[in-house]
Amino acid sequence: KKRNMKKSVIKGFGYYVPEKVVTNDDLAKLMSTNDEWITERTGIKQRHYRKNINDAEETTAYLGLQASKKAIESAGLTAKDIDYIVFATLSPDYYFPGCGVLLQEMLGCDTIGALDVRNQCSGFVYAMSVADAFIKVGQYKNILVVGAEIHSFGLDFTDRGRGVSVIFGDGAGAIVLSASEDDSVQGILATNMHSEGKYADELCTKFPGTKYGWSVRLKNEPDAIPDEEIYPHMNGNFVFKHAVTRFPETIHEALEKAGKKVEDLDLLIPHQANKRIAQYVQQQLGLPDEKVMVNIEKYGNTTAASIPIALSEAIEEGRMKRGDLVCLSAFGSGFTWGSVLFEY
Ligand code: UT7
Repeated sequence: KKRNMKKSVIKGFGYYVPEKVVTNDDLAKLMSTNDEWITERTGIKQRHYRKNINDAEETTAYLGLQASKKAIESAGLTAKDIDYIVFATLSPDYYFPGCGVLLQEMLGCDTIGALDVRNQCSGFVYAMSVADAFIKVGQYKNILVVGAEIHSFGLDFTDRGRGVSVIFGDGAGAIVLSASEDDSVQGILATNMHSEGKYADELCTKFPGTKYGWSVRLKNEPDAIPDEEIYPHMNGNFVFKHAVTRFPETIHEALEKAGKKVEDLDLLIPHQANKRIAQYVQQQLGLPDEKVMVNIEKYGNTTAASIPIALSEAIEEGRMKRGDLVCLSAFGSGFTWGSVLFEY
């Protein structure tokens, strides 16, 4: 007997970025880079950082909290209505536990489940796919899906790190994904997730991982730990080439699974990694400018937060309306990639 599947729809959304704006010119004071290079290679003009590099208050979970409050309010719900949390980040407050439980406490939710997702730039689409599956089988009704990052605390602001550090920014975004019986909206139609772990070292932060015996080394020989292990490392060209192949693949896969065509798409919201990647994907798919959401110029790459921030802005700007066919798509460290296709 066929089970009566629920539909999962986006009921609320919200985003939050710290107040402090850091322009390309600000970064040029710290390392040898310039506005022209950053703009030309990435499309980024500014990003937001938390006020202080060390701050026990303004943490990743805190940014997630601000975005979550807005998402819950816009859904017309309260924290008590949330019955599960999925929190995606690569920059958690603690090594363990993850940010999910911290958010559960901050929001004052009941003792609901709180799952942490560690899929970096693809974190939000992975998180959404989990929430979607829980809702479709009828396990939960209102799931809070969050993507949040504080990058500014752990970037190498010397010339050695300039290829990575100019790209990333802090921020958070969240949605409430809810079970719906409303016939007028289809909600999530298709998801696909992928990984290729052989490229783990091409985009990674090694510290504080177990492979490198970090705690013993930190205690015994703190100065002997090389910067390459502490700061994020990215083989930029290599990542770029894979990204521009995998993005179109995963988008086509989602459309095919749902029986849709590229022409049916109203909006593509790609992970904001690099404006040139978005342009390349747009060209490959033959989409007009108005059908591709790009806001990287304002926030840089906020990893797991970039899609929910862009999604929230798209709704606020009237670019994403109820009934629209929307595709969220991401590629990043892992390598991991995937898409979520839905009717909003
Ligand atoms: O979000 C997760 C997934 N991430 C991505 O998808 C990122 C993918 N990769 C990229 O977006 C690009 O590869 C970057 C934006 C990271 C780099 O752009 P690129 O066009 O691949 O530049 P490049 O690494 O080939 O560097 C070109 C030159 C080099 O100098 P030489 O060797 O040509 O003399 C770099 O040393 O630019 C130099 N460079 C910089 N110059 C000024 C690297 N970083 C900087 C900088 N400012 N910040």
